[in-house]
Amino acid sequence: MSEIESANETQTGKQESRIFPPPATFQAQANVSGMDDYRALCAAAQTDEQDFWCKLAREQLQWHKPFTQGLDESNAPFYTWFADGEMNVSYNCLDVHLTNGNADKTAIIFEADDGTSSKISYRELHQKVSKFANGLRSLGVKKGDRVIIYMPMSVEGVAAMQACARIGATHSVVFGGFSAKSLQERIIDAGAVAVITSDYQVRGGKQLPLKAIVDEAFTLGGCEGIANVVVYQRTGGQVHWSTRDIWLHELTKDQPADCEPEWVSAEHPLFILYTSGSTGKPKGVQHSSGGYLLWTKLTMQWVFDLKPTDVFWCTADIGWVTGHSYIAYGPLAAGATQIVFEGIPTFPNAGRFWSTIEKHKTTIFYTAPTAIRSLIKAADGDATIHPNKFNLTSLRLLGSVGEPINPEAWMWYYKNVGRDLCPIVDTFWQTETGGIMMSPLPGATPLVPGSCTLPLPGIASAIVDEAGHDLPNGQGGLLVVKRPWPSMIRTIWNDPERFKKSYFPEELGGNIYLAGDGAIRNKETGYFTITGRIDDVLNVSGHRMGTMEIESALVANPMVAEAAVVGRPDDTTGEAICAFVVLKRSRPTGDEARQIAIELRNWVAKEIGPIAKPKEIRFGDNLPKTRSGKIMRRLLRILAKGEVITQDVSTLENPAILEQLKEAL
Ligand code: PRX
Repeated sequence: MSEIESANETQTGKQESRIFPPPATFQAQANVSGMDDYRALCAAAQTDEQDFWCKLAREQLQWHKPFTQGLDESNAPFYTWFADGEMNVSYNCLDVHLTNGNADKTAIIFEADDGTSSKISYRELHQKVSKFANGLRSLGVKKGDRVIIYMPMSVEGVAAMQACARIGATHSVVFGGFSAKSLQERIIDAGAVAVITSDYQVRGGKQLPLKAIVDEAFTLGGCEGIANVVVYQRTGGQVHWSTRDIWLHELTKDQPADCEPEWVSAEHPLFILYTSGSTGKPKGVQHSSGGYLLWTKLTMQWVFDLKPTDVFWCTADIGWVTGHSYIAYGPLAAGATQIVFEGIPTFPNAGRFWSTIEKHKTTIFYTAPTAIRSLIKAADGDATIHPNKFNLTSLRLLGSVGEPINPEAWMWYYKNVGRDLCPIVDTFWQTETGGIMMSPLPGATPLVPGSCTLPLPGIASAIVDEAGHDLPNGQGGLLVVKRPWPSMIRTIWNDPERFKKSYFPEELGGNIYLAGDGAIRNKETGYFTITGRIDDVLNVSGHRMGTMEIESALVANPMVAEAAVVGRPDDTTGEAICAFVVLKRSRPTGDEARQIAIELRNWVAKEIGPIAKPKEIRFGDNLPKTRSGKIMRRLLRILAKGEVITQDVSTLENPAILEQLKEAL
């Protein structure tokens, strides 16, 4: 069955009929108030696309040199936006607030793992970033250089990103859970000149080394381009030191608290963020400066309905795109007060999110379905950490991101966290899109649990078949975006051909963006529901991972002859990784198999990072293959789910193998 057929099945199998219109009080104060407002914005974008975007870019951003053109399609699909305009992202996130009344407003409330908290104003953050930027300049880091950021959730992590933006260096943040090998691969691919890291990161009461992993990346080779490693001292724990290392506090202590920003073209690459695709090698998604910032700022206003008094909390890590757009850039550009959280949702107990919302009087809370699902479970088991034990009355808006939110989790979130009063914005987007693409507007769109509802104004989402033809509502197909938008991916770093092939395939005409997800629109409402990836990408706890990447890691182990990785549904993590492995030696069973499975899981953690560890490993003498040698992943997915194979397997070369792979360890 194709992905499209399965999408149709989802739709016909279960229709969600609950609808939640925006509360009148919310609508009355909303930045986009009512569907007529929403439709008017959509119509404006359609009537004169250039005028729509150019007007917004002039209103929302400060330009050092004004642009004369919005979208340029002359080199499609390498679209550009506002290209001859000059600006600086950090200037637009910090300096603008020194003169607009926000200077002493709290920019960041830092909630540390141990429950202590501190605040930093826009003025102070501007100084911190300026000193940081001057420090980087003093090391010789300059416009166009690439800088790897391997940092914990911290004010310094955000400041590192802003400091790079300030001097025109392109950063590439690597999530602190990635291994030395993943870090090394990114250092090499990006051709980076510096690494910014910290001694340790603190999560769930534990100190985890970061600097030591950077050191290990160097031992793997190929990192000679890195002249300096700047180290933020988080814990003061022991670190190994070499001549290329420099403490952040030493670097910045005598630097001036002002730093002239580097004025760059709106198209200047602000960052590269590596993400998984359908091959073994992660792709360096390259984003722009002007178009990216415009959209992250605008979506703060439209989707999060941001007001000057809000306390915004996005629980993502700065190592993922959500942490880029809705921690490091969007909220600061929009002048928000936001929480930056160092810890994990379950420490010191699973009431941490709720107690932190209460403590800082959070008004807008944005998290991932996987966190909600695990907290539902925890609250079921322990009434003392149920959200109803906390004062959550400050909340006025909730958000969800990263994976489909199942209607049951949605309802729990709505009732228990939002007290039936807060709209939920189920935001669909991707690393490649830079910002939210489809989402309810909380003061306008009636909500339906499990649906990201409608595209934002200016976003031309559509559903097409494999030849690029539009499909009617009710029929599942490929999610595409038919017109460029300002925050879209510009290219894949070092691989423009892969960019074209992955996102603008010839089969669809070569100029419409292929998201890589299946979707379906409701027959009556036209609402979109995402049905899941159409490629070999898994979504585990909202973390995106390529099956091929994990397979490559497994076969790199000397014991392994062959491996196939598939996803299977999981109540908490959304999907779970299931690996089918053939060893070079005979197939292990019993305790021995369990022992080797542990070894292989640890191996994958070392190769990629703990997030990529397979939840389950099954061993076979072989894998189910067609006569031409193609692994039948479709069958493996059925086995992983524990279901019975009912289809015809006569095309298999070795049908008997299915029996062997049926049983979990
Ligand atoms: O499959 C979709 C899923 O996450 C993928 C993008 O992952 P990533 O680039 O890591 O970015 C995640 C954070 C923006 C998408 O292709 N996804 C994201 N948001 C949703 C979603 N699936 C369903 N509903 C969503 N709201």
